[in-house]
Amino acid sequence: MTVSVLGLGAMGTALAAAFVRAGQPTTGWNRSPEKTEAAAGLGVVRAETVADAVGDAELVVVCLLDHAAVREVLEPVAAQLTGRVLLNVTNGTAEQVREVAAWAAEHGASYVDGGIMAIPPSIGQAESVVLYSGSREAYDRWAGPLGAWGTGTFLGEDPGLAALHDLALLGAMYGMFAGAFHATAMVGTEGVAAGRFTTELLVPWLHSMVDVLPMLADAEVTAEQRLVEQVALANIIGTAAAQGVPGRLTAPLKSLVAGI
Ligand SMILES: NC(=O)c1ccc[n+]([C@@H]2O[C@H](COP(=O)([O-])OP(=O)(O)OC[C@H]3O[C@@H](n4cnc5c(N)ncnc54)[C@H](OP(=O)(O)O)[C@@H]3O)[C@@H](O)[C@H]2O)c1
Repeated sequence: MTVSVLGLGAMGTALAAAFVRAGQPTTGWNRSPEKTEAAAGLGVVRAETVADAVGDAELVVVCLLDHAAVREVLEPVAAQLTGRVLLNVTNGTAEQVREVAAWAAEHGASYVDGGIMAIPPSIGQAESVVLYSGSREAYDRWAGPLGAWGTGTFLGEDPGLAALHDLALLGAMYGMFAGAFHATAMVGTEGVAAGRFTTELLVPWLHSMVDVLPMLADAEVTAEQRLVEQVALANIIGTAAAQGVPGRLTAPLKSLVAGI
């Protein structure tokens, strides 16, 4: 079974190279030719055009910046996609995904969407999770070769489900990052080095708090807990303001936590 990867940026190259390492012949195309050259050095067969890349590939993987790029790249080769499996791992909203899935169906292609919960250097490790949704039949057919990327989880036949879960998880990650940067900024006002604070205190603290999440997921928050949280959040906001750290992140948290 032949595969193609359209888009050989950091992630597309990692995905194509993982296929090659697993013994899967893989053709790749990228808008800027130098990235195609670099991928060729990893064993990916070079395609000069999108049409050449799609060629007779049974699985066409699309890994581009956004959905505007996906439409721009795929529309000229729409007629070639009939009978193929289109696997789109480009970040997009659930609505954008449903639109491109409907477009693929109009052109006779089976559509699977992918949400990659990993970074390029981790692709190929079992801990790298890839979320899938869309055509169950197409996913089952390709689940074996896709194991070259990591652990696949199929979420359902609504094509938007992988994007919904992907964006929810990314939202949690960005919330954590924002909180971590806020913490670093707070102690930084007293000259505390960000690196040392992060490794010695912040990371162990966040690890221990992550373990509490399953308990919080279904727990009833008592009035007493809510009061304690409101006092702590007021103190965080007050201290940050006194230290000169903007309250754009923490001020909404107080009302958000109160409303849960
Ligand atoms: N990197 C990560 O850690 C990571 C993790 C999970 C998911 N992802 C997802 O993977 C996708 C690609 O990310 P990346 O990290 O590979 O980004 P990247 O290195 O910046 O690559 C972006 C790719 O999109 C192409 N592109 C952008 N606009 C285009 C257009 N109008 N027409 C044709 N090609 C276009 C670029 O081509 P040129 O080389 O010609 O610019 C390049 O191949 C994104 O949706 C991202 O959310 C990335």
